[in-house]
This record gives sequence, structure tokens and C-alpha cells, in this order.
Amino acid sequence: MLQNIEVSEIGMGCMAFSHGYGQIPPESYSIEAIQGAYEHGCTFFDTAEVYSPNLSGIGHNERIVGKALKDVRQNVVIATKLFLRVSPFGNVYQTIREHLEASICRLQTDMVDIYYLHRMGSVPVEKTAEAMGRLIEEGLIRGWGLSQVDTDIIDRAQKVTPLAAIQNIYSMVERDSEQSIIPYCMKNNIGFVPFSPIASGLLSGKITPETRFEKNDDVRNWVPQLSRGNIAGNQPIVEMLKEFAQKKNATPAQISLAWMLHKYPNVVPIPGSKNKERITENLNASAVELSDLEFTALEDSLNQLKVYGHRGLGGF
Ligand SMILES: NC(=O)c1ccc[n+]([C@@H]2O[C@H](COP(=O)([O-])OP(=O)(O)OC[C@H]3O[C@@H](n4cnc5c(N)ncnc54)[C@H](OP(=O)(O)O)[C@@H]3O)[C@@H](O)[C@H]2O)c1
Repeated sequence: MLQNIEVSEIGMGCMAFSHGYGQIPPESYSIEAIQGAYEHGCTFFDTAEVYSPNLSGIGHNERIVGKALKDVRQNVVIATKLFLRVSPFGNVYQTIREHLEASICRLQTDMVDIYYLHRMGSVPVEKTAEAMGRLIEEGLIRGWGLSQVDTDIIDRAQKVTPLAAIQNIYSMVERDSEQSIIPYCMKNNIGFVPFSPIASGLLSGKITPETRFEKNDDVRNWVPQLSRGNIAGNQPIVEMLKEFAQKKNATPAQISLAWMLHKYPNVVPIPGSKNKERITENLNASAVELSDLEFTALEDSLNQLKVYGHRGLGGF
């Protein structure tokens, strides 16, 4: 559950069909992949207005998600995000509403389930929270969220309009949110939605120091954990995951997702893949049950290993 919004245990990040991981697939493949995820039980889909090739336009990804899900819209939860820039004399509510109406149109729907502010800008979070509260009352969104924020911002926002979800980077190798953010969310009935939960593919075990990423529109060229030195440094974590995976008859990516599902009741990861088989593999992680003993062993092993590379809450 994300506040009062029911979603599948694992959601789907749709970004790579438009941006961020190199060559995008043909639109027909992306639509089939999203529909395949739905048929496999996924009811939670994540997009954003800015996801487009090289971030060069607006709405490429939302249009794909809209086309893929229009026939099952009532059965799914769609989350999208906006970047907010308001001039000193501008109206925050009006500006957000304009972005939202454009997203609603591209998504071929009449409301957005979870509407996130993609990054904090110069607008005080209280003003954004107030506007989001109005949009909830008007039925244009069911809930709202923030992305890449700290506990102070979350608390200020929550006091104005209770949040449905926080979407921060979180994985076995990016654990800042464990300190106070996830506990705050648990206490206040806010869902926590980890992005890059497989650490941009690192935790799948399929990336080695020899892996070359695509030159065009591939975030893995600058993600700190995926520098050649850090991929090499993090191999003990990958090896540890591979060992666990073998014992559980699962894959390393699945173990990394099962770990966070076991750890927190309010965490709903949104792994991203533009490959139909891997999408199914990731969704099947919800069937990988870890016993308390197995979880503790995994957590202990992880705590003993040094993590190389850190992205934290900053950056894009
Ligand atoms: N709020 C934000 O600022 C923000 C930032 C980034 C992302 N997001 C959202 O979060 C979603 C997930 O983030 P992400 O895509 O960075 O997450 P991720 O799942 O950690 O990483 C995706 C990368 O991992 C690979 N991968 C995924 N599953 C795999 C598997 N089972 N085996 C091998 N490789 C695998 C993918 O390659 P293949 O495609 O080849 O499978 C892709 O290169 C995005 O789609 C987007 O919706 C939000």
C-alpha cells in the first residue's frame, strides 16, 4: 500500500523505454512489454513528463504508458512526475495544474494516481503541498509524492498535505534512506518507492568492469557505482548475492529485491528494464520468500562489505 493506494508488491519503472539506458526499443515492443507486465500481475507503473530521448522533449514515455494501459486503466496505478519552475509572480497551483493536465492527456486518462514533484526547486514545499491538496480534492490526483528529498522536507510537506509516497534512490548499495526517511515514512503511513533498486543493473551480476555502456543517452556512464573502479570494488557484494541466489534458486536481481521487500512493509520497488524476460524476472522476485534467518544472514553479509561509489540524494 502507498498510503491508501493499493499496488502490486513490485512496480515497473518505464523510463528506459524513452531515456537513460541507451537505445530505446521500438514503441510496439515497449507497449507489449508494459502490457506483459500487467498480465504478469504488475499494477503499478512509473513514468515522468521529462522521460524522452536525451531528455530532449516532454511526454515521450507518458504517451507510451498511456497507449499501453488505456484498456486496463481502472485496474492500474499510474505515477508520474513534474518539474516545477514558477516565476516570483507566478501561481504555483496553476502551474502544477497545467503540467498535470498535459500529463493526463498524454496518459489517456482523467486523473493521475500519484503525482510526484521530481526534484525540489525554489518553490517552498509547503506551497507545492497546498496545491497538491487542492488537486486531490478536485479528483485530478489520488495522492502526491516527492522524489530525492530528505526527512526535513518530507516532514514540512506532510504537515500540509499528507503524502502517498516518497521516491528516492535505494538499493543494497545506496542505503541512506534507511537512516531516517524510511522509518519516518513507516510511522506516517507513507509508501517508500525505491528507484534504481538494482543499482542500475549492478546487482544483477551481469555488469563487469569490462562492460562498455552505450555512448548515447546512457546514465550508466556517470552513475558513481558504475565507474570501472567501483564495479570492480563492488564485486564482493555481487558475488555474495550470487551465492545467496544459487541457494534460493533465484537470480541476484531477485534476491536484491526480495531483501528490501522483507525488510520493510511499506517499500514498493520499481525496477526498470526494457527487456521483456528481465521484467518478468524482476516481478517474480515477489515470490522469492526469505525466512527471517536468511534475511539476517544476507543483511549481516551486506553490512560487512564495503560499498564503492555513492550517489546519495543529490544529482539527477
Ligand atoms: N525519481 C527519480 O529521480 C528517478 C530516477 C531514475 C529512475 N527513476 C524511475 O525508477 C525506475 C527504475 O530505475 P532504474 O531503471 O535506474 O532501475 P534499475 O532496475 O536499478 O536499473 C535498470 C538497469 O538495470 C538493468 N536490469 C534491470 N533488471 C535486470 C535484471 N533482472 N538482470 C539484468 N539487468 C537488469 C536494466 O537493463 P535492461 O533494460 O537491459 O534489462 C537497466 O540497465 C525508472 O524506470 C524510473 O521510472 C526515477
